[in-house]
Amino acid sequence: MSSQKQFRAIKGTRDILPPDSALWNWFEQIARETLESYNFREIRLPVFEDTQLFARSIGVDTDVVSKEMYTFEDREQFHMAHPLSLVDVIRLDEAVAEGWQRGTIPHTSANEAEVIKLHEACREIEREGTAAVLRFLDSVRNLALGDSLTLRPEATASVARAYIEHGMQTLPGNQKLYYVGPMFRRERPQKGRYRQFYQVGAEVLGQSDAPAIDAEVLEMLLLLFKGAGLANTTLYINSIGCKECRSKYVELLREELRKVKDKLGPDSQRRIETNTLRVLDSKLPEEQPVIEKLPRISDHLCAACRQHFSELKDELHLREISYDENWRLVRGLDYYTRTTFEVTATGLGSQNAVCGGGRYDGLVELLGGPAGVKGIGFAIGTDRAILSIQEGEKVPHLPGLSVFIARMGAKAYPVAISMARKLRACGLAVELPPQEMKFGKALGLADKLGARYALIIGEDEVSSGTYTLKRLADAEQKKLSENELLEYLESERRGSGA
Ligand code: HAM
Repeated sequence: MSSQKQFRAIKGTRDILPPDSALWNWFEQIARETLESYNFREIRLPVFEDTQLFARSIGVDTDVVSKEMYTFEDREQFHMAHPLSLVDVIRLDEAVAEGWQRGTIPHTSANEAEVIKLHEACREIEREGTAAVLRFLDSVRNLALGDSLTLRPEATASVARAYIEHGMQTLPGNQKLYYVGPMFRRERPQKGRYRQFYQVGAEVLGQSDAPAIDAEVLEMLLLLFKGAGLANTTLYINSIGCKECRSKYVELLREELRKVKDKLGPDSQRRIETNTLRVLDSKLPEEQPVIEKLPRISDHLCAACRQHFSELKDELHLREISYDENWRLVRGLDYYTRTTFEVTATGLGSQNAVCGGGRYDGLVELLGGPAGVKGIGFAIGTDRAILSIQEGEKVPHLPGLSVFIARMGAKAYPVAISMARKLRACGLAVELPPQEMKFGKALGLADKLGARYALIIGEDEVSSGTYTLKRLADAEQKKLSENELLEYLESERRGSGA
């Protein structure tokens, strides 16, 4: 008996199977169409980046960077001539010594230990031979020459990196970019929270920080949600000020928090010193009365930030967008300035934020790009958007299998093949079974597969040139010539969206 390991998807990851995958594609297609109607264009980004990119943008004290990143060393190995002779070993030993001196072998403590072991092994080889050669080779293989890389926990940092790398500030107008794809965070999995999850995100980068940009981004987002039938969404907005006014506010908040430290739990106590604003995010019931009494950023914004926020609200009214102001919406990533926002939807339990975003005016400069570039964007959590659609009342009926071809007799087979090709060319999904089946069995399978129609091709049909088309929902049958059949099914497809 074999006791083979049963492989399963890694905790926090999952397979998106049909028919759900059709709903995902449908949602992403609506997103693409909506974003492109606002002149956003797609950017395809790598799934992993230099770890430092995320540490610098998102912030080392955030949960994402300090606990949730999938970081690995990109192991490149020392190039070795094969098979090794004693001369090669000595040359390799010299090359390692030189690499260490020049710094091409990174000066980490692990590498230092390996380099020392290598030297010792090389001396041993001179004395002992084969066993020592093997130890020597192990040590060479252990040298870590690669970089620290991280699976992207989000994509705003990557977009900013790409903007700088490709000199996009020299392109005309604002850069309006969108992305669709997986992100990775080692969070505790639960409904709506996964370790590999998916986002549809949009970013605007350029010289202007006009509140009309923020408002248009929000208008587009809500239009997208409406198009996808997302029920009961609420838009929350806030302004967390700029570098100057926020740092003064954070100092004041920290002082006030120190005074009430004893009333807070250990997480919030720690955050007072490491990531003060995040205390406002706490959902612990016993902390709520304390937090409600804390100073609010809206009372401490500088004149320019206050004006920006007030103009944003005017712009939202102009577009008839309703929103709730939430002074505690500070977001979990360090790069935000001024406008922050989130959208919640129903049917999601505690993980009800279906989208988050905001402004990040200093990010490009922080990453070594040109000064003065402003940015704003959002990311929709696709997993959560889909869950919310599925739990709502407007689950779209998506076209599946249109025609199942039931054939009998040798002469029917080539006709069935040609008919399948013609129907597929009309954009219909067609199933042509690989083996002949009795009509009764074929119709049963067609039904189980959810086909709309069964096309019956027997030897009689072939000689008369008329085919029987059976609608499976009500068993209605039509006898049609090839042309009539193609015309009928094509007009049906247009009518049903199939
Ligand atoms: P975020 O709030 O970290 O923002 O993530 C955006 C959305 O991604 C969340 O509202 C949620 O729907 C979804 N999401 C986050 N983590 C998970 C998870 N573990 N499982 C399932 N869904 C999740 C950002 O990522 C920013 N880059 C957004 C942004 C773009 N800000 C400016 N531009």
